[in-house]
Amino acid sequence: MTRRVTKAVFPVAGMGTRFLPATKAVPKEILTLVDRPLIQYAIDEARAAGITEFIFVTSRGKSALEDYFDLAPELESKLEKSGKTELLEILRSTNMESGAIAYIRQHQALGLGHAVWCARRLIGDEPFAVILPDDVISAEVPCLQQMVEAHAETGGNMVAAMEVPREKVSAYGVLDVAEVRGRVLKVRGMVEKPPVDKAPSQLAVIGRYILTPKVLENLGQMRKGAGGEIQLTDAIAAEIGSSDGIYGLRFQGQRFDCGSKAGFLQATLAFGLARPDLRDDLMEFVEDVVAARRAAQ
Ligand code: G1P
Repeated sequence: MTRRVTKAVFPVAGMGTRFLPATKAVPKEILTLVDRPLIQYAIDEARAAGITEFIFVTSRGKSALEDYFDLAPELESKLEKSGKTELLEILRSTNMESGAIAYIRQHQALGLGHAVWCARRLIGDEPFAVILPDDVISAEVPCLQQMVEAHAETGGNMVAAMEVPREKVSAYGVLDVAEVRGRVLKVRGMVEKPPVDKAPSQLAVIGRYILTPKVLENLGQMRKGAGGEIQLTDAIAAEIGSSDGIYGLRFQGQRFDCGSKAGFLQATLAFGLARPDLRDDLMEFVEDVVAARRAAQ
């Protein structure tokens, strides 16, 4: 029997420099796709997977995130009085139970592995999830839920995996796969941001993980890896050959790299087109823009 996964870590300490100047005053995770901040997508996905404790690893300048998850009683009563029940519902759906969120600060930017390690005391001795809010995944069954279901069978450590073009592998953690069991991959190697010619495959790790507490222990002993940072990938890879093992799940769904401007714009368009209230106008606009560009070429 694998233990239920009820805690998730959200590393949100990054400075978001790729989105400057916007991120000068607003945390990257508050930037919105249509009308919901990036972080809300991550929280909704975690909730759908049965997560009840949410651990944010933050840094200076991220207080807007804490405010976002606070109740907004004045706003609620105003909407209530004016009979705006639909908006009230939307607002209430973002409310978190008291005590369900914890914030821990990462005092130094030493890498993703270090950020996760900062949450060790709140995780304790149980399996936990990690969600990188930059990776937004649109799926019928939310990605982390797919992983929780697969993990109930495999136990051990699990990462979300996706095929990426060869020239992009060096931006990711990359898997060396020993065995394929449908969507589940048994992993025998994992390397962070390998040069293209050293990559063991084109299967990249996407920002969803279910990890054993042993990985936290490994993180405490990790040396700096790729990019001079403490890498989560290295601490997971140290579990290769252990009884827990490492699995990849080729999830079903579309992933957007919202850590990049192009990915963010693509996600905005895709999520906008998926909204019945916006679809028709947006589609017409996109078609016009495309037609105009074609004509100009
Ligand atoms: C992080 C991880 C990497 C993973 C990627 C997924 O890298 O270190 O292994 O493939 O997220 O988005 P980052 O994008 O923070 O450089």
